[in-house]
Amino acid sequence: MSAQPEFSSFSDYLAAQEGKSLLRFLTCGSVDDGKSTLIGRLLYDTKLLFEDQLASLSADSRKHGTVGDDLDFALLVDGLAAEREQGITIDVAYRFFATDKRKFIVADTPGHEQYTRNMATGASNSDLAVILVDARQGILTQTRRHSYIVKLLGLRHVVLAVNKIDLVGFSQARFDEIVKTYADFAADFGFETLVPIPLSARFGDNVIERSAHTPWYSGPTLLEHLENVEVASNALARPFRMPVQWVNRPNLDFRGFSGTVVSGLVRPGDAVVVAGSGATSRIRSIVTKDGELEEAGAGEAVTLTLTDEVDVSRGDVLAAAADRPEVSDQFAAHLIWMHDEPLLPGRPYLIKMGTRSVGAQVTEIKHKVDVNTFQRLAAKTLSLNEVAVVNVAIHEAIAFDPFAEVPETGAFIVIDRMSNLTVGAGMVDFGLRRATNVHWQQINVSKDSRAAMKGQRPVVLWFTGLSGAGKSTVANFVEKKLNVEGRHTTMLDGDNVRHGLNRDLGFTEADRVENIRRVAEVSKLFLDAGLITLVSFISPFRAERRMARELMGEGEFVEIFVDTPLAVAESRDVKGLYKRARAGQIKNFTGIDSPYEAPEHPEIRLDSGVSAPEDMADQIVTYLRERGYLG
Ligand code: ADX
Repeated sequence: MSAQPEFSSFSDYLAAQEGKSLLRFLTCGSVDDGKSTLIGRLLYDTKLLFEDQLASLSADSRKHGTVGDDLDFALLVDGLAAEREQGITIDVAYRFFATDKRKFIVADTPGHEQYTRNMATGASNSDLAVILVDARQGILTQTRRHSYIVKLLGLRHVVLAVNKIDLVGFSQARFDEIVKTYADFAADFGFETLVPIPLSARFGDNVIERSAHTPWYSGPTLLEHLENVEVASNALARPFRMPVQWVNRPNLDFRGFSGTVVSGLVRPGDAVVVAGSGATSRIRSIVTKDGELEEAGAGEAVTLTLTDEVDVSRGDVLAAAADRPEVSDQFAAHLIWMHDEPLLPGRPYLIKMGTRSVGAQVTEIKHKVDVNTFQRLAAKTLSLNEVAVVNVAIHEAIAFDPFAEVPETGAFIVIDRMSNLTVGAGMVDFGLRRATNVHWQQINVSKDSRAAMKGQRPVVLWFTGLSGAGKSTVANFVEKKLNVEGRHTTMLDGDNVRHGLNRDLGFTEADRVENIRRVAEVSKLFLDAGLITLVSFISPFRAERRMARELMGEGEFVEIFVDTPLAVAESRDVKGLYKRARAGQIKNFTGIDSPYEAPEHPEIRLDSGVSAPEDMADQIVTYLRERGYLG
């Protein structure tokens, strides 16, 4: 069947497309459920394949195909060579096609466990999800996980495509069983439409044309449903929100705030608030390149001018004054973790929300969610694909809404500060407030006056390196030399602090992060006391050393890399720990089965395999003297 009428010219064709509504959907499911085959079938049967694509498809099928002489539709969508070699889809592939009734953009998202991130990317741009299951396998953990993510990301329309129905003899009983299992599982997800369809992507049953093999099925074919399903967004009905993309100030007479209205409607005269500062004003005008508007709604990019001179900058959110977002530096959220390296509470990440990126930490994992049973599980870290309820602390107060109320301003992504990769996606549940009776106490004696009394510039000397590298030995020499000169110092040492303050911590990654977080905070207090503070910890991770550095001011943090080859540290083995680690008696030992990330730009690097400890101490004292720390 051709769903595609003939057009005499390409511009006629484009004109015909313009008036049609657009449905964006994604397909998800496990590897081998047939997603790519299904999309290929839709493209092929709606005759929207171009001749050259068809030619290359039949050549490819002969080379790589897994279905004999038939065209292998999966090859059409699996764009990347690497996938063909592995036989899995590894990135989001967007395809465009159209029928007489509607235009479609489909995101083909990977089913391999490792690629939840791409699935979430596809889902966040879609109106509807086609969740594929293999009729022989039924509902798998991945089906549940993907459905849970689809729900978390706010999709409200789902098709349960029970594929390969031919391989179970077009059995109605099997279909009903799968549908029941899924409906029970998804009962609380609140999907507005959930339409199960028995189909065979490979042979086309119920994809576009009704199958003669499923007389017991009276529902729509997949394409019929996709053409007709109503997915109108509720964004217009929600309160007005516009994250400011940039402040538009071409001359002194004009000051406008540009961005995309993400929810609600706005009109001249409306009362608005700058969410962060609470400053209020009214809309004077809505400006676009085609003139002024009487109204702008969700999805429109506009420039707003206000009746008052209020302070607004990029990243602020303009909102309806009568229905304001929350403003806080803490919130509770659902978080999907998408990275091979686990989420570690206390580790500094960036979160991006709207047009704003801010530093943030997960302060607590309240519980993980088992996607099969929805049970709450205790957790100290989160691994790839896991979902949890967490508390997030942000470095400054920002504006947001609970995702359930305004999804457009209630979702965020988590970015790793070192690699810049997106490592998580989150949905705000609600804002949290710090206990209202805890305020910063105004302190009258300043850090400077404390330091001045001591005649020195306080500084944190942060020694990092392998166990047995000589950190404590060098630090001891330095402190002794400074004391002889009458300097005021103190020392924090890994082994000692772990006997007291950090007695509750071991050597897992999560515990090491917390170890260093506490030590960095304590160092800062000592710095405020005006002391030269020597800190000697393995501190194996760049992220936490950077966090420590950022806690202190400019010039107050000196990173000293005690650089010793592992072989040298191991041959010294002062405490006999390497021997035990090699024998498997100590787990997570740095350099053996736990990584050490060497500093890239330390202020001081000591070649500890070569120099004597006393000489290295001199090197540090000289550094301090030359830079004026010693008065
Ligand atoms: S850190 O990695 O969290 O910074 P820290 O400096 O506090 O480590 O403690 C390191 C000291 O603990 C080592 O010098 C060693 O004496 C001891 N230790 C015991 N178990 C381990 C381990 N698994 N890895 C590293 N050091 C260990």
